[in-house]
Amino acid sequence: MRNQRVGFLLGLIFAVGLVVQCNGGVTSTYRRRLEASGDMPLDADVFWVPSGYNAPQQVHITQGDYDGTAVIVSWVTADVPGSSTVKYWKFCSNLNHSAEGDVRQYKFYNYTSGYIHHCVLNNLEPDTTYYYAIGENDAGRKFSFKIPPALGPDVPYTFGLIGDLGQTYDSNITLTHYKANKDAAALLYVGDFSYADNYPNHDNVRWDTWGRFIETSAAYQPWIWTVGNHEIDFVPEIGETTPFKPVRNRYPTPYEASGSTEPYFYSIRRASAHIIVLASYSAYGKYTPQYQWLQKELTKVNRTVTPWLIVLLHSPWYNSYNYHYMEGETMRVQFEAWMVQYKVDVVFAGHVHAYERSHRISNIDYNITNAKCSPVPNNNAPVYITIGDGGNIEGLATNMTEPQPNYSVFREASFGHAIFDIKNRTHAYYTWHRNQDGDAVTADSMWFTNRYFNPTNDS
Ligand SMILES: *[C@@H]1O[C@H](CO)[C@@H](O)[C@H](O)[C@H]1NC(C)=O
Ligand SMILES: *[C@@H]1O[C@H](CO)[C@@H](O)[C@H](O)[C@H]1NC(C)=O
Ligand SMILES: *[C@@H]1O[C@H](CO)[C@@H](O)[C@H](O)[C@H]1NC(C)=O
Ligand SMILES: *[C@@H]1O[C@H](CO)[C@@H](O)[C@H](O)[C@H]1NC(C)=O
Ligand SMILES: *[C@@H]1O[C@H](CO)[C@@H](O)[C@H](O)[C@H]1NC(C)=O
Ligand SMILES: *[C@@H]1O[C@H](CO)[C@@H](O)[C@H](O)[C@H]1NC(C)=O
Ligand SMILES: *[C@@H]1O[C@H](CO)[C@@H](O)[C@H](O)[C@H]1NC(C)=O
Ligand SMILES: *[C@@H]1O[C@H](CO)[C@@H](O)[C@H](O)[C@H]1NC(C)=O
Ligand SMILES: [Fe+2]
Repeated sequence: MRNQRVGFLLGLIFAVGLVVQCNGGVTSTYRRRLEASGDMPLDADVFWVPSGYNAPQQVHITQGDYDGTAVIVSWVTADVPGSSTVKYWKFCSNLNHSAEGDVRQYKFYNYTSGYIHHCVLNNLEPDTTYYYAIGENDAGRKFSFKIPPALGPDVPYTFGLIGDLGQTYDSNITLTHYKANKDAAALLYVGDFSYADNYPNHDNVRWDTWGRFIETSAAYQPWIWTVGNHEIDFVPEIGETTPFKPVRNRYPTPYEASGSTEPYFYSIRRASAHIIVLASYSAYGKYTPQYQWLQKELTKVNRTVTPWLIVLLHSPWYNSYNYHYMEGETMRVQFEAWMVQYKVDVVFAGHVHAYERSHRISNIDYNITNAKCSPVPNNNAPVYITIGDGGNIEGLATNMTEPQPNYSVFREASFGHAIFDIKNRTHAYYTWHRNQDGDAVTADSMWFTNRYFNPTNDS
């Protein structure tokens, strides 16, 4: 009888995935396959090249202004520059508009890019679906996107989160799971895109395959870009001394709309959220452009218009894995006090190829001599989430610091994506979906209460 019960309990524990409780936090020991899966081959179905002479490929969109009524449409043509015009029209309207973009090409060592087009569509109507068409003759292609409702404190809006995606078989599973969530309306991408830099001479052909891979999502909803270390592409050995050359040419951001001077740190407002994107690989010390910009931008946040204040960056400030350990520390020291002062709701990071969520904590009291240097509970502080588990070629980060620090609520080395579902000014529901045997299983979740309108102890 007793043995039976123990057996039953063990079975239960096994079924739900063994969880180890230490120091208050949970380290999930859920495991499937740990070895990295390889990049999908160049002829993989997801890298499909559209048919027709000079057909637009690698189509993607991002927000084009501060408040969400503009869209930047980007694509590549392979044979000749061709047209940079985007034709667009509202769903159920037969009035066509058109906008004219520009075209560019860049070289990277012995690689020459296709013709890269960017075109801004301005003054679109809130809460409206648009179709858009690019390309010419029989090689034209058509897509659609939806402009979010006008800014407002109670606008429900669902953001997706992916980081460190790459282009492996695991990346394909993550992206497939993300696309299956029909509510996700825009993607917050926390850096490390194609991992082309893992190839000899950073073979930029892998930037092209990645562009084709993500098109099935990124052509239909904006991906909000944060740059990671794999976008730096600084390779003096082969004469490539301009950092961020491929990403800058391929993935524009609306940085000027928020008064930024570099494409890698900027902010946008969308529905009920104010989203601040920081650049882990641009200078952020005192007096630098990023420091000055952030200081000013935080004063522009109006929580009665956009209650949800979300920060994206690549290298996490709180990370209890033995990978990239403390790499985010200098930026944390520089900016963490502001996150508390302005009551940021959540900070999302990537970089570490695993998942982790923190309590609301801060570590801002240290003054060199007072020894106050541990994270302490702080109800005005953000929750820190690491979501660098998109599935890239470098594999999972599995080695964690032990014991689990008490600021860490939950950590697990699995691939997956997350959803931040804003319900209204007081509540948002957050879920992390691990890739498990072909399914997206909700393995971590949290009801967020807004730090401005409803600052209960939610973590
Ligand atoms: C990627 O995933 C999609 C959706 O499951 C599937 O149709 C496709 O064959 C996959 N491609 C590869 C190369 O695994
Ligand atoms: C608008 O442009 C699209 C794409 O070229 C075309 O299919 C459609 O017929 C045009 N509509 C009108 C009313 O011109
Ligand atoms: C670039 O150089 C590498 C070796 O240095 C070679 O394998 C590759 O084929 C070259 N690519 C092009 C486009 O010339
Ligand atoms: C914030 O927005 C509200 C609503 O539009 C407005 O009344 C208020 O003046 C704004 N606050 C600031 C400081 O701009
Ligand atoms: C640091 O904190 C200690 C203890 O609270 C205090 O005595 C000291 O004056 C502080 N030092 C500075 C530079 O503020
Ligand atoms: C972690 O434990 C230390 C020491 O007991 C304590 O000072 C600190 O407040 C705790 N931090 C959290 C986030 O609970
Ligand atoms: C985990 O990381 C620590 C610190 O870097 C290292 O000492 C240890 O050998 C690693 N363990 C494994 C199993 O790799
Ligand atoms: C906000 O959303 C939460 C969660 O769905 C709900 O419980 C609450 O009643 C909503 N608040 C208002 C004012 O509608
Ligand atoms: Fe990274």
